[in-house]
Amino acid sequence: MIRPAALDDAPRLAEIHIASWQVAYAGILPAEFLEGLSGELNARTAQWQDWLNTESPRRAVLVAVDGEDVVGFAHLGPSGDKDLKPEVVGELYSMYLDPTRYRQGWGSGLMTAVFDAMRTAGFTEASLWVMTANSAARSFYERAGWEADGAETDHCVGIEIPAVRYRRAL
Ligand SMILES: CC(C)(COP(=O)(O)OP(=O)(O)OC[C@H]1O[C@@H](n2cnc3c(N)ncnc32)[C@H](O)[C@@H]1OP(=O)(O)O)[C@@H](O)C(=O)NCCC(=O)NCCS
Repeated sequence: MIRPAALDDAPRLAEIHIASWQVAYAGILPAEFLEGLSGELNARTAQWQDWLNTESPRRAVLVAVDGEDVVGFAHLGPSGDKDLKPEVVGELYSMYLDPTRYRQGWGSGLMTAVFDAMRTAGFTEASLWVMTANSAARSFYERAGWEADGAETDHCVGIEIPAVRYRRAL
């Protein structure tokens, strides 16, 4: 099941965010940096509380739920890119699953809900940034109909790392 995140999901979102970075970015980001994220649980919980407290009709955090357990999330809203129009382009800011749930269809279910939420918010196109070296996620996005549009950056998710942009019509 997919539902909008509630404020009390914040600790679980922070936990998934950190655990998924530690597994998915092993070999992409330095091991020491990834290990250090375990100490950021409280700070990241506070950040999720802030995001969830900020009401905006065009932003959403969706969670995938298995029984009582939140197994993954997607965060979306208007594009933050200077060359794209935030009125029409929705951005998938982040999408992470609990590492024990990879490759079981949860991501595909979330993606369908992301597209629905973006259309409901009035977006006609979607964009996202993904680390260039994250070949697993790139395969997932390509399978979901996204295509690299040629834009590149050296900065992604607050760190210095090469990333490429993907786009999709909604
Ligand atoms: C990327 C992610 C959201 C995908 O969700 P998922 O539930 O694992 O993916 P699904 O099971 O729905 O996979 C759908 C299809 O995508 C492709 N795919 C998914 N994971 C893949 C992988 N590791 N390698 C290659 N293709 C993959 C496959 O075509 C797959 O279909 P198949 O399993 O029938 O072959 C999830 O694996 C994840 O959280 N990864 C770590 C975090 C991350 O990289 N997030 C993106 C940051 S930009």
